[in-house]
Order: sequence, then C-alpha cells, then structure tokens
Amino acid sequence: MNETPLCKIIRDIIKAEGPMPLSTYMGLCLGHPEYGYYITRDPFGKKGDFTTAPEISQMFGEMIGAWVVDTWHKMGAPAQFILFEMGPGRGTLMADILRVGHKVDGFVGAAKIHLMEMSPVLRKAQFKALSEYEPTWHMTLESIASHDPSLPIIAIGNEFLDALPVDQYTLTDTGWTQKSITINKNGSFRIYDRAVLDSVYFEKNSLQNTLFKPRLGDIVEVSHEQKRFMNDLIDIVLNQGGSCLLIDYGFSNNRCGDTLQALKNHAYCDILETPGECDITYHVNFGNLAEQMMGKNMMVHGPVSQSTFLKTLGIEIRAEALRHSASEMNRPDIAQDVEVALMRLIDKDQMGDLFKVIAFSSDSTIQLAGFTI
Ligand SMILES: C[S@@+](CC[C@H](N)C(=O)[O-])C[C@H]1O[C@@H](n2cnc3c(N)ncnc32)[C@H](O)[C@@H]1O
Repeated sequence: MNETPLCKIIRDIIKAEGPMPLSTYMGLCLGHPEYGYYITRDPFGKKGDFTTAPEISQMFGEMIGAWVVDTWHKMGAPAQFILFEMGPGRGTLMADILRVGHKVDGFVGAAKIHLMEMSPVLRKAQFKALSEYEPTWHMTLESIASHDPSLPIIAIGNEFLDALPVDQYTLTDTGWTQKSITINKNGSFRIYDRAVLDSVYFEKNSLQNTLFKPRLGDIVEVSHEQKRFMNDLIDIVLNQGGSCLLIDYGFSNNRCGDTLQALKNHAYCDILETPGECDITYHVNFGNLAEQMMGKNMMVHGPVSQSTFLKTLGIEIRAEALRHSASEMNRPDIAQDVEVALMRLIDKDQMGDLFKVIAFSSDSTIQLAGFTI
C-alpha cells in the first residue's frame, strides 16, 4: 500500500469508529474536500487514468445533442428551460450538445445551463469550455431544485451514477454481512465482513429488485446514495416537468456479484492500494433504476445498450460524413481516427454493450429518441 495523504485520515476514523463501510471509504477516496481523487485532478485522457465517451469523439456529444434538441421539441420547445448536466467532467459533452443546438432556431437562447460538479479542478475546465453560455454551478440537487422551479428541465449524466458510493453485502448462513474496511497490524487496510445488525430488515428494505432471490454466498451491491440521488432527481423532473438521460457502465438484468473496480494509469488496481489516487467505480444496476423510475410513475425508455442508442440516433451516418470530408481533404489519418472512435463507442467488445442508456420523462405521451428503431 502507498501511504497517501488520505491514509492517516481514514485510519483515524476507523480507530475512532470501528470498521468503515465500503461506501464511506469510496466517498472519502473520491470526494474528500482536500485529498479526494476528483478534487485534486483532471483524470481524463492519455496522461490521466481513463477516457470517457465524450473525450473519445465529438460524435458522441453530437448524438446526445440531437437527442436533447429532439426532446426539447417534443416538450413543446419551451422558451426557457433548464439544461442540467450532472458530473460534466471537462465540459466537453455539454459543449458538443450546444454546438449541435446552435443549428436549431431558439434552442441555445432557451437553454439555461446548470452543472453539478464537486471538483474545483474540473469546474475550471468547464468554465473554459462553457463560459460563453454563463452556466450556473451547483454542489447539490437541492440547490438546482430551488433555483428556478417554474422551468421545465432536461437532465443528462454520462458516467456520473457510478461515482456515487456503493456498499457490498454478502449472504452467509448466519445472515447478511457488509464489506467494511479495517486496519492490519502494519497499518495497511483490508476488507472485513461485518455482520449486518438486522438482516431481515436489510433484506426487506434495501434489496429493491423484487425479482431478485439471493443465494448463499451471493454478493449484492447497493448504493444508498445513488437511490437517494435518483429519488430527488425524479422528484425534480416530476415537479418541473421534463426528461432525463443517463448513460453508464452497467447491466439490465437481475444480476449480483462484485463489480467494484479501481483504475489508475488506464490499468486496474486494488481499491485499497492508493486511497484518493485512483478512480473507484462499479457497474450500475439499470434494472433497479428502471424499477425506481416506474415506482414514481415516470415514463421509462430503455435500458438499451450504448451501441443500440447511438446507432438508432444515426452515429454511423455521422461517421460516414466525417470520413467523407476527411478523404476530400486528403486526410486518410483523420478518416482512420473516425473509424477507430466509432468502434470504441459502438463495438460490442468495447463500450457498445458494456454501457447502457436509460431515460425517463414526466410526460407519458412523449416517445424519446434512441430507444426504438
Ligand atoms: C467519470 S467522470 C465523468 C465526466 C463526464 N460526464 C464525461 O463523460 O466525461 C465523473 C464526473 O462526476 C463528478 N462527480 C462525481 N461525484 C460527484 C458528486 N457527488 N457531486 C458532483 N459531482 C460529482 C466528477 O468530478 C466528474 O466530473
């Protein structure tokens, strides 16, 4: 284990309070106000730890832009609306959406840009990419909800939900245990399976998916924070009227298992190895998300794979147009880059199947684009 600035802080909390739930550990590693992973760096690109879809190619943001403009039209093209992005990274996705939006009369003038971002480093990058649109930044959903509750909203999030801390529970013959972090004699960290105090209550209240029947030894992942976040987000869309699009690593069926992973320099690493200096994520359970949305009477679209979503919106046609103009400029290298990026986004062995897309709307009469051909 590398002794990072967060190690002592985590050790002191464990010494005072006992084994630390995985979600608390993940929350500190990613979001500690001084030493959290997202607080201290821009993690994207070759020099960083991972690359996201908007950073791979402008085509991704252009497809999401087409989706947002289409949704705005279907909502009756309101003269003012909130265009909200959660976890906007470098602001690349929003900049691409607005570039598409400029081609549509009235869209950019109507969009009030709101961003939810906890990282001061990434806020700076977002300011650079988006300052001409005068965005408003928020730390919480509460702040967005109270900003202008009379306006309809279109909300988007790419790779945001998988950053909200998760817990892991294992079914044993004496009941459920919760993965927690404790300290070895030499000061390093290890995972400890701590008995859940009221197993029956936990199973009844926290295992949301009614079709899921756990068996002995199963590991189940529950993000209480993600559930609370989604609950509040759905309420905002319900109260103000609008739609929301979410894209993330994840699965649609009733699956269980350990999907937690840490990434550093584009390679997997141990989540306990360098606290605060690697990204920690997990696969989002889109089956549970859909259930939660339907439980609050939202019209749910998907989940579908990222490949299906982007192809339905026409990414292959856009790629062909970009390749064509590259060959007209005698730039086979650019045409080749377009092809590589397209494959990264839609190939089933790359991001195409691994990433899922889901949307919900407060208006059941709207058919959102990208989900049916
Ligand atoms: C994996 S990055 C995705 C960035 C961007 N959406 C993209 O696709 O390139 C996660 C983003 O969410 C932000 N984030 C993570 N947890 C957050 C939280 N609890 N509140 C606000 N922002 C958060 C990070 O700082 C970062 O901008």
